[in-house]
Amino acid sequence: MTESISSGKFITVEGIDGCGKTTQAEYIIDGLVEAGLSAKLVREPGGDPISESIRKLLLHAEESMSDRAEALLMIASRAQLTDKVILPQIIDGKWVVADRYADSTVAYQGGGRGLSVKSLSDINHFGTYTLKPDLTFFIDIPVEVANMRMSVARDRIESEGDDFQQRVRDQYLMLSKSEPDRVIVINGEQTIEEIKIEIWNHINSKFNL
Ligand SMILES: Nc1ncnc2c1ncn2[C@@H]1O[C@H](COP(=O)(O)OP(=O)(O)OP(=O)(O)O)[C@@H](O)[C@H]1O
Ligand SMILES: [Mg+2]
Repeated sequence: MTESISSGKFITVEGIDGCGKTTQAEYIIDGLVEAGLSAKLVREPGGDPISESIRKLLLHAEESMSDRAEALLMIASRAQLTDKVILPQIIDGKWVVADRYADSTVAYQGGGRGLSVKSLSDINHFGTYTLKPDLTFFIDIPVEVANMRMSVARDRIESEGDDFQQRVRDQYLMLSKSEPDRVIVINGEQTIEEIKIEIWNHINSKFNL
């Protein structure tokens, strides 16, 4: 089914560390702008001065952080970004592409850390002001492939290791099965160009651009 393009839409890109999210999020923005739409790219955690301060704490804290504090900080950063950046854009008829959003919390703090997915979903509901993406691309690659693509300098969460990343991937796969209309699984082992075309075809057919 196609939808009206008169209101702003919200697209998110998800997946384990190094799967190609930022690469593809930038291409989506390029495609939307070429289609004559106003589109903004945001990244999580971050995308606003307060959210970026929380990002530094989350990714580079040297002290041990409790799993629940990590989850709540992620969602606090998301609330700030949603209220100050994403919602105003969408209400103004503009498109937003987010490099990670609420599904990352379900995957990392739920799958990775083992916190209750139900509790995280409830807090996400509050922290997102109930905003849900219109479309989500989950770029799926095996952990070994992601490892080869990731830089040597890893942040606190990227340093958690293969078992952690595998649990995150499994949680993303579960999520895509539970919301198949919203969450599109993309085989991330294809070339950058192939993925770009596959993603664009989905966007085109959903929003009739
Ligand atoms: N389909 C692909 N095939 C091969 N290499 C790729 C592909 N997609 C991205 N890459 C490369 O892999 C690296 C990681 O890509 P990118 O930064 O887009 O991933 P990411 O998911 O945003 O990572 P992070 O979670 O660390 O932010 C980059 O060097 C990028 O050029
Ligand atoms: Mg990235």
